[in-house]
Amino acid sequence: MVLDMRLEPFELERMQSEWEHVIDINLTESGVEPLTISDLIPDKEAQKELIETKLAYSQTNGTMPLKEAISGMYQGADADNVLVTNGGAEANFLTIWNLLHEHDAKEIVVMLPNYMQIPGIIKGLNGVVSPFRLKIEKGEWIPDLEELKSAISKKTMAIAICNPNNPTGATFGPTYLKAIAEIAADAHLWVVSDEIYQGAELEGDSTPTMFDYYDKVIVTNSLSKAYGLPGLRLGWIMCSDKINVTDLWAYSDYTTICPTKLSDTLATIALQPKCRRKILERTSRIVKKHWSILREWLDERNEVFEYVAPRAASICFPRHNLNVSSLELTTRLLREKSLLIIPGEHFGMPMHLRIGFGYEEDHLNAGLSRLDEMIKILK
Ligand SMILES: Cc1ncc(COP(=O)(O)O)c(C=O)c1O
Repeated sequence: MVLDMRLEPFELERMQSEWEHVIDINLTESGVEPLTISDLIPDKEAQKELIETKLAYSQTNGTMPLKEAISGMYQGADADNVLVTNGGAEANFLTIWNLLHEHDAKEIVVMLPNYMQIPGIIKGLNGVVSPFRLKIEKGEWIPDLEELKSAISKKTMAIAICNPNNPTGATFGPTYLKAIAEIAADAHLWVVSDEIYQGAELEGDSTPTMFDYYDKVIVTNSLSKAYGLPGLRLGWIMCSDKINVTDLWAYSDYTTICPTKLSDTLATIALQPKCRRKILERTSRIVKKHWSILREWLDERNEVFEYVAPRAASICFPRHNLNVSSLELTTRLLREKSLLIIPGEHFGMPMHLRIGFGYEEDHLNAGLSRLDEMIKILK
């Protein structure tokens, strides 16, 4: 049983919270420029209806129309496979809390680099993080499956992956998902698959969901990134085991009770097939266009940066060879250039930078010019 909770500071989120609203240029965002309410509901009559919404408590695990819209995106699922949460952050928190609470084994094997929320929660709840890394092979980030196998011990109860991956923007297709599922099945493990960037691919089809490849899987996702709706704070958990979904629901009674009524309503609209398609087409246009700007900029500075092109999400994770650590570089960028970029140290990978390119094009260009000025000072 987890008795004690001692969370370490979540450096990445803290840095963003402290600075994103006070600096000139923010290149930390991993999603795309957010939509407005009227983008979602252009029709004036429908807008009037929305304004008349009573700000009551909503159905605590998500309203039926919303759960149906979500489950409709997963093969063989229905509304009972879904728990609606306040963002992907709550979905991840409930999932890890529940896993650590329900199992005697306390070790979770975690893909690294990663958005550091899941490792932070595991440690905070006295669990053990056993890392397995992505490696670069033939110009792509891929999971090191041998390291994954050797990271599993008798104390392991789950494997946590992030696909598409934050911070690299890598995506892992059927071959890797099948391989991870087989490794998990051999050791009777759960898989937690954070799929929040699914739908923000630069090319081709949507990244496949682990839900299609393994039964003992808990998928987390939200509208914050690929859908450009982070302010709705609307996420979900998908699990093929419906009893487990009900168990997880009991945990959200203790955290946030329910998503807000407005978020549930707007999310239901966003996830109707036609609207969803339009939103994801917009995302795809943005990520493609902005990536071409950043790629050109990086290529022109190939004496400083090397990078693997992201496959999804509006983030790239280049390595630099400047004579300063990334932490020092980003601190100077903040102080001297009013520019916010996340240092690789926040993902456990010094000498890297996570550059977000999904927000306004002018911002991206202006941010890159300021980064250029700093590089010239440092060279
Ligand atoms: C991989 C990943 N999971 C979860 C979250 C949290 O998402 P949300 O804003 O929906 O709570 C983030 C936010 O950056 C993320 O990158």
